[in-house]
Amino acid sequence: MALLTWDESYSVGVSTLDNQHSVLFNLINELHAAMMHGNSRTLTGTTLRRLLNYTRGHFSAEEAMMASLQYPGLEKHRQTHRKLTKHVEEFEARFERGEGPVNSQLLSFLRDWVTDHVLRSDKEYGPWINKNGVR
Ligand SMILES: [Fe+2]
Ligand SMILES: [Fe+2]
Repeated sequence: MALLTWDESYSVGVSTLDNQHSVLFNLINELHAAMMHGNSRTLTGTTLRRLLNYTRGHFSAEEAMMASLQYPGLEKHRQTHRKLTKHVEEFEARFERGEGPVNSQLLSFLRDWVTDHVLRSDKEYGPWINKNGVR
C-alpha cells in the first residue's frame, strides 16, 4: 500500500506546484517500497538521491515563484526549506557512509514533513500566488 496519496485536499491552488508535490509523494512511496521489499542497497540509494534532487528542484521552483511575485513570507519559507533539505542531506550522507539503513524513522519523518509542509506553509502562499494571476 502506498504510504502517501496525493489528493485535492493537498492542493495549494497552483497546478505546476501541485504536480511537483504529487511527484514528491510518489518518490517517497518508491523509497518506502524499496525499503519494504528488502531491496538492494543500490536501489534505495538511487531513490534517496532522486528524492533529494527532486526536493531541491521543487524548493527552488517554489522560491523562484514566490520571489517573482514578491510573496512577503518568502524568507521564512526559505528557511523552512533549508532545514528540511539539511535533514534529508544528513540522512543521505549517513546512508552513503553505510552508517544506517533507510528505516521507518526516516520514512515517518519524510511523510510528516511533506504533508505538514504542504498543508501548512505551502498552502499559505496559494492565495497570494492566485491573487497575482497564477493558478
Ligand atoms: Fe514549500
Ligand atoms: Fe512545496
